[in-house]
Amino acid sequence: QLADSLYIINGFAKEYFTDTLFQSEEGQNVGLSYFEERGFTEETIRKFQLGYCLNTRDSFVKTATAKGYNLEYLQKTGLVTIRNEQPADNYRGRVIFPIHNQSGKVLGFGARILVKTDKAPKYINSPENEIYIKSRVLYGTYFARHAIDKLNECLLVEGYTDVISLHQAGVENVVASSGTSLTQDQLRLVKKYTNNLTIIYDGDAAGIKAALRGLDMAIEEGLNVKLVLLPEKEDPDSYVQRIGANAFREFIEENKKDFVLFKLEISLRDAGNDNVKKSQLVNEIAETISKIDKAEDFTRQQDYIRQCSQLLKIDEQGLITLVNKYIR
Ligand code: CTP
Ligand code: MN
Ligand code: MN
Ligand code: MN
Ligand code: MN
Repeated sequence: QLADSLYIINGFAKEYFTDTLFQSEEGQNVGLSYFEERGFTEETIRKFQLGYCLNTRDSFVKTATAKGYNLEYLQKTGLVTIRNEQPADNYRGRVIFPIHNQSGKVLGFGARILVKTDKAPKYINSPENEIYIKSRVLYGTYFARHAIDKLNECLLVEGYTDVISLHQAGVENVVASSGTSLTQDQLRLVKKYTNNLTIIYDGDAAGIKAALRGLDMAIEEGLNVKLVLLPEKEDPDSYVQRIGANAFREFIEENKKDFVLFKLEISLRDAGNDNVKKSQLVNEIAETISKIDKAEDFTRQQDYIRQCSQLLKIDEQGLITLVNKYIR
């Protein structure tokens, strides 16, 4: 009941913001020019139902309440806030990215400021409510699911614009975690479509850390995880727009690393000659390997044991014993 009302309000808002983008002068001059400067075509803008919220105090909320939408529900969706005791538009002067569920209904919005400043956050996102539970949503699933199914692989990126630019370049099997670390529910969502997850994150330390955090969880879900690190200071959006679709695809294929081996390599580098750290590492890797479901993928576990014991310069049988200790 309440959920239905929130879906209806979000649907109305989505239409309102796309109409504003394409039909109002400010929408065209400010919003549409912004998207065009970023290299998004009209087809792409329409496909992702991008929009614009006028830079006025309450144009949206006035229209919405005049049409009979309930103010309390409008606040629940995050579209409207109370400012100086009066209802006000929350996303004013921002471009709008609707966030869809798997069947295309709008769960919420991301609203980006046009010019970055220190004073306001770059994105304002809808709050959680009865229909939008962030830990269960991956941005772009609605647009990506057929391609994920067909290619039997899901690419995971950080942001809205990464998903959009990759689609425009013809890479359609891609979803975004929207800047948060991965949850079990999100991994289960991926698993519905494929076992193969390829994480494409920024090549900086934060990107690597964020990617590593999801590893054991992904393995427990039975996912086969690969990682691609992009060159410094690039994200998938900037990179694909710079080098083009074909070169981007080649880069991904050539730089895909197995995630378990990648983790081991950087941890080994980290540990250096510290024997305590090293034996800790052996235990960690054994635990990770133990999480691969043997029944489902016995060869994969064996391969990891062989490759990891080589990297660690330890006896294969020793690692097997340790792995078995973690299995119960
Ligand atoms: N994000 C957010 N709030 C912020 C910054 C980031 O919600 N203040 C989320 C958004 O979902 C964003 C993602 O984290 O898409 C990745 O962040 P970032 O890389 O900073 O943004 P981009 O997606 O690259 O956006 P843009 O290219 O427009 O700067
Ligand atoms: Mn319309
Ligand atoms: Mn980063
Ligand atoms: Mn970006
Ligand atoms: Mn980014």
